[in-house]
Amino acid sequence: PEAITVQELANRMAERGGEVVKTLMKLGVMATINQTIDADTAELVVSEFGHNVQRVSDEDIEMGLQGTADTESALRPRPPVVTVMGHVDHGKTSLLDALRSTDIVAGEAGGITQHIGAYQIVVEGGSKITFIDTPGHAAFTEMRARGADVTDLVILVVAADDGIKDQTVEAINHAKAAGVPIVVAINKVDKPEADPQRVMTELLQYELVPEAMGGDIICVPVSAISREGIDDLVESLLLQAELLEFKANPDRNASGVVVEARLEQGRGSVATVLIQRGTLRVGDIFVTGSESGRVRALLNDRGDKVEQAGPSEPVEVLGLNGTPEAGDDFVVVEDDARAREVADFRAEKKRRSQLASATSGRGSLEQMMD
Ligand code: GTP
Ligand code: MG
Repeated sequence: PEAITVQELANRMAERGGEVVKTLMKLGVMATINQTIDADTAELVVSEFGHNVQRVSDEDIEMGLQGTADTESALRPRPPVVTVMGHVDHGKTSLLDALRSTDIVAGEAGGITQHIGAYQIVVEGGSKITFIDTPGHAAFTEMRARGADVTDLVILVVAADDGIKDQTVEAINHAKAAGVPIVVAINKVDKPEADPQRVMTELLQYELVPEAMGGDIICVPVSAISREGIDDLVESLLLQAELLEFKANPDRNASGVVVEARLEQGRGSVATVLIQRGTLRVGDIFVTGSESGRVRALLNDRGDKVEQAGPSEPVEVLGLNGTPEAGDDFVVVEDDARAREVADFRAEKKRRSQLASATSGRGSLEQMMD
């Protein structure tokens, strides 16, 4: 049976904690505000206050968390979210560095060496693109599992001197399973042994037919080092984005997904969150995975403090009570009580499933095969 702290019960009834303690005393139960009481006692207290008893089931707690669906008229254009995938060492991070240096706001071409998981660039004409680097982040598998709402497009990086390898194939399968369009960046064309034609031929085996061969897959020869083709790649991404018209409602409570999260000395738990809809503001109360918190500060991808972040913006969030996991959701809720309710519920659920798999060998094996 469910248990609840006195404070939590008070919150849910919108009564003062002290009043609940008093009522408990009347019922012969001595409990402080932070103590836990069982569901039957809680039910008694609730009726003493004259409220209706409503025991919520698991589904009820999660229900409505994401709010109502947006009407068409509330939707506004948002930048595309582009995830870079490919085989190890094929140049994903280098390519992102090269792409980032096209940012007219950050300026200083080539001067950026900071490697972070997600950032946004503004290109000539004012269009924005958000990029997510995948390697190193166990994130991507997690994210896909959540329905691949996270990325709009995939840049598949294939080194022209190496061709399609295991992780390239894996990336193709991920993108296909998620129904996300692929733009192929044939990288390292500056190398003498580069053979872009071979890469295009290899793609055919995976039912990716390059435009040059009569298909619809855009292939852009690039070099992250010489910067050849970088502008073409950006143009291709913008073209795709224009065709697909990505939209979101910025005027609602924010929700998004955790791209990476860590515990930092002096700063506490920090999460890089990709906002998917709504606008996140300093002071907002949120739940993320089985953690909750209140936004103490927001930093953009350049490390500058910002007051808010809208759809498709990656932002560093400070003010978490614990460290969520990459791939966890991030949802702004109305108040502390709601945030804690959901976080506690999820933490308990997690604890129980860990316990179950620890005590049942069969269960854990089945989970592993999942
Ligand atoms: P992982 O994150 O480990 O999967 O690798 P990655 O795909 O991010 O590759 P990364 O950008 O780290 O590049 C790997 C190596 O290839 C580095 O030594 C780069 O300097 C080199 N490299 C990347 N792009 C190019 C390119 O266009 N031309 C040449 N010549 N070298 C490149
Ligand atoms: Mg890398």
